[in-house]
Amino acid sequence: MNPNPNKGYLDTAIYAAKVASDHIIKSSKRKIKTFKDKTDLLTDTDLASEELITNIIKNKYPDHNILAEESGLIDRHSSEYTWIIDPLDGTTNFVHNYPSYAVSIALIQKNEPIVGVVIEMPLMNIYYATINSAAYCNNKIIECSNTDKLILSLLVTGFSYNHNENWNLNIEYFKKFTDITQGVRRLGSAAIDLCHTAIGHVDGFWEFDLKPWDVAAGILIAKRAGANISKLNGDKYSIYDDEILVTNGLIHQDMIKVFKELK
Ligand code: IPD
Ligand code: CA
Ligand code: CA
Repeated sequence: MNPNPNKGYLDTAIYAAKVASDHIIKSSKRKIKTFKDKTDLLTDTDLASEELITNIIKNKYPDHNILAEESGLIDRHSSEYTWIIDPLDGTTNFVHNYPSYAVSIALIQKNEPIVGVVIEMPLMNIYYATINSAAYCNNKIIECSNTDKLILSLLVTGFSYNHNENWNLNIEYFKKFTDITQGVRRLGSAAIDLCHTAIGHVDGFWEFDLKPWDVAAGILIAKRAGANISKLNGDKYSIYDDEILVTNGLIHQDMIKVFKELK
């Protein structure tokens, strides 16, 4: 069997995510430092986590680009590799002690995620995948569910901080899918929503207005677990798009039909 060429990158991502999540879990001060927007919070822990992760990556791969939520882009120009980091996904949950938040680290090569690691806290579940491997949770292979009917499905979505037109439209989608499935959850961490689709806790996830750091790791994990990923109308998705649909594949077309009908 050929060794995984991305193993070194994966080990670095897992190590950095563990260092950051250990720090987050121990961090007792859950005070809001500032409001990035009306409901968009920032804490010292977001910043400390980002510094821990970026320092590990800069030391190990000084030539690689880094795109991190709080500090932006470090562009090394000559590199085709970019690390994409959400140091704390689900900050609102973290601040309120609601037990669902994550660290998300991905490596992309020419816009294609090749490594993805998400640590779900406070459970400390470690989800990961590379472009040439299965998806794992705590070192066990995971796969999407095999639910093939909307009426038997459990879904999850999220609502961005920006209460714009998409936010209003999503309320309509939320209502409709709540009516035609077994329910729609809203947990507050897109990285975890993607991993829960990968492991089959939910059958599908959609959201508007996510950023590359919310999704880059989670979509690779979901894809390697067998998920279908597209825009809500079925078009090809990139991490820079502002809408995403991720399902077990079996309910994908039925969900697209509903999005098209309500638009
Ligand atoms: C947020 C979470 C949430 C999603 C928001 C994101 P943050 O990330 O992923 O689930 O609905 O749109 O901004 O701000 O907690 O890193
Ligand atoms: Ca986020
Ligand atoms: Ca964040």
